[in-house]
Amino acid sequence: MESGMRVGFIGGGKMAEAMIRGIVSSGSVSAGDVRVSDISAERCRLLKQQYGVQIDADNCGLVAASDVVFLAVKPQGLVPVLEEIAAAATSNHLVVSIAAGKRLAGIAAVLTASRLVRVMPNLPATVGEGISAYCMGAGVTHADREVVEMLLGSFGRAVELPEEQFDAVTAVSGSGPAFFAHFLALMIEAGERLGLASSDAALLATQTMRGTAQLLIEQPISPAELVKAVCSKKGTTEAGMEQLSSPALAEVVQAALQATADRSRELSA
Ligand SMILES: NC(=O)c1ccc[n+]([C@@H]2O[C@H](COP(=O)([O-])OP(=O)(O)OC[C@H]3O[C@@H](n4cnc5c(N)ncnc54)[C@H](OP(=O)(O)O)[C@@H]3O)[C@@H](O)[C@H]2O)c1
Repeated sequence: MESGMRVGFIGGGKMAEAMIRGIVSSGSVSAGDVRVSDISAERCRLLKQQYGVQIDADNCGLVAASDVVFLAVKPQGLVPVLEEIAAAATSNHLVVSIAAGKRLAGIAAVLTASRLVRVMPNLPATVGEGISAYCMGAGVTHADREVVEMLLGSFGRAVELPEEQFDAVTAVSGSGPAFFAHFLALMIEAGERLGLASSDAALLATQTMRGTAQLLIEQPISPAELVKAVCSKKGTTEAGMEQLSSPALAEVVQAALQATADRSRELSA
């Protein structure tokens, strides 16, 4: 059922598009009640054509015509946008920032009147399989929480977590799709070197990744238990796991997530 709520997006890039697709296709907000403003006229044209959303020529106009405003520009571009919309954003607005690293306190220092929420979504939202972490700013109501959960739920799952954990969240789920995709690319390349056609290696590895994730979601077993279940004594998987269990791989993964969390922290400055 449509809510009648008006939802605006400042910045109509990759992440905004993923969220718009979910919000509109779930029917929770009608396309005519979704608006976008983006400095790229080409992005605006494309989003209007693809999803039937309204386009605003300027960010303040979008805020004036919205109840919920998503801030979906790059973190480096957030402060100028906040300053631009500060006068237009009132206590009637629920403002949702998805900018990596940008803390609620910094946003609240500029948008003094609005209720604020911080969200870290991820790109699988494009296919309705996102995971979003969210945290609420001061003054956010119970009804706001329900609105946020409804909107985030239209493109995947959502979990409320303390803001102190958002750098770690960014490392695991915000940037996570890139990390899993990188590992997948390495699996595909290795499969090719073993003699598989590129398309066959891609199908085998990608469906295996999807099935493994689905299995772990649906069955009450841990990743370690799944490894055990696939490994039979002196079998093929055990031979492969002897290589993968190297501490070097664990160190590389830890370093990658640490670097991501560090960068998220830097962006808050
Ligand atoms: N991509 C992800 O997987 C992901 C995951 C979690 C969180 N996020 C967060 O989501 C936000 C958006 O990321 P993205 O990947 O969607 O970036 P993106 O594709 O670059 O989208 C940002 C859009 O905002 C436009 N823009 C820039 N300045 C603007 C302004 N002043 N007013 C209106 N529009 C403006 C950009 O236009 P130009 O390109 O012409 O500058 C671009 O179309 C970031 O803060 C990021 O941290 C992204």
